[in-house]
Amino acid sequence: MSTSEGLIAAAEARSAHNYHPLPVVIASAEGAWMTDADGRRYLDMLAGYSALNFGHGNERLINAAKAQLDRVTLTSRAFYHDRFGDFCEQLAELCGMEMVLPMNTGAEAVETAVKTARKWGYRSKGVPDGQAKIIVADNNFHGRTTTIVSFSTDAEARADFGPYTPGFEIVPYGDLGALEAALDDNTVAVLLEPIQGEAGVLVPPSGYLAGVRELTRQRNVLFIADEIQSGLGRTGATFACEHEGVLPDMYVLGKALGGGVVPVSAVVSSRDVLGVYKPGEHGSTFGGNPLACAVALEVVAMLRTGEYQQRAKELGEHLHRELGALVGGGAVREVRGRGLWAGVDVDPAHGTGRELSEKLMARGVLVKDTHGSTIRIAPPLVVSEQDLDWGLEQFRAVLGG
Ligand SMILES: Cc1ncc(COP(=O)(O)O)c(C=O)c1O
Repeated sequence: MSTSEGLIAAAEARSAHNYHPLPVVIASAEGAWMTDADGRRYLDMLAGYSALNFGHGNERLINAAKAQLDRVTLTSRAFYHDRFGDFCEQLAELCGMEMVLPMNTGAEAVETAVKTARKWGYRSKGVPDGQAKIIVADNNFHGRTTTIVSFSTDAEARADFGPYTPGFEIVPYGDLGALEAALDDNTVAVLLEPIQGEAGVLVPPSGYLAGVRELTRQRNVLFIADEIQSGLGRTGATFACEHEGVLPDMYVLGKALGGGVVPVSAVVSSRDVLGVYKPGEHGSTFGGNPLACAVALEVVAMLRTGEYQQRAKELGEHLHRELGALVGGGAVREVRGRGLWAGVDVDPAHGTGRELSEKLMARGVLVKDTHGSTIRIAPPLVVSEQDLDWGLEQFRAVLGG
């Protein structure tokens, strides 16, 4: 038995089987490369579902974390700490907004967005108590809490977890007419991913996000953009909403905000919206802790230069050109996405997404399938063009005609 096989057996024996990992055991990583417990190297073309936009072991982020580890790591919000104000200010400024409510995981930030929108609806919009409605899209993925799975359309994510939280209406993603029809006087928010990641990197029709912005503005409804996966450089802009010149009322951020070092998430919005909270109404022991703020401050500083967004744009154009050339020739049916982010639909006759991911793994490329026949590609934004080309060569060998 190899070292990796032994470690997989140990993991399977004692962990809940709520994931189905590829049979690879990562022991170390640097930049866009990971090394397994037996010393084999792999190009990471998933980047922790965008949590590792800046690559593994990014020097600036690791140094920021190390410096903070030696000072103070946790205070709870019972006290102020010296990184908190700066973190909120810098993040709000990056978003073009005014206030920040920090949490830890993406799902917690989405829950925070839901609570905030409801409270705003009752306090500011005058919605009758208990009547607030939030509109979401089909095929959404916003996390795994009981409330969030209540408005999922994915049977696997939802089954056996009821009773479900009411107050959500699901409309088809990309359909402005359906959204307009669902808006009523009790609607407090529309919650959307600007590009649906888990669903297979689905880009909505051009003009959709701008249309949502217009409708929500007219009807005094909050537009909440869940940019947990699409944001912070991935699509070639700081936020995917920017591609349509849209500024939502609220950004929900996570993943890359923690630089692949610590979990950091946040809701960012206006004073009118986040100003609805009073002490005791919402919180988290770890949310906005000093270590999280130190790393996230460095993430924000890195994004302020625009260089990662530019890399994602340029390398993304290259990625999509090369993947586009595979469509129709072999296993590849369709390629979607934006920036360094792609969903590749494969023909089941050539194997399932899982089988093809395992073949890519055997060639030293790590990706992950979703929904049976889609492979998701999201390399760290720091990947070199040469490494990306090497990865694409392995794609051609496995998926090409
Ligand atoms: C768009 C989106 N929202 C929310 C989440 C949930 O984030 P977390 O897994 O950190 O709770 C994810 C995770 O994949 C996501 O892609």
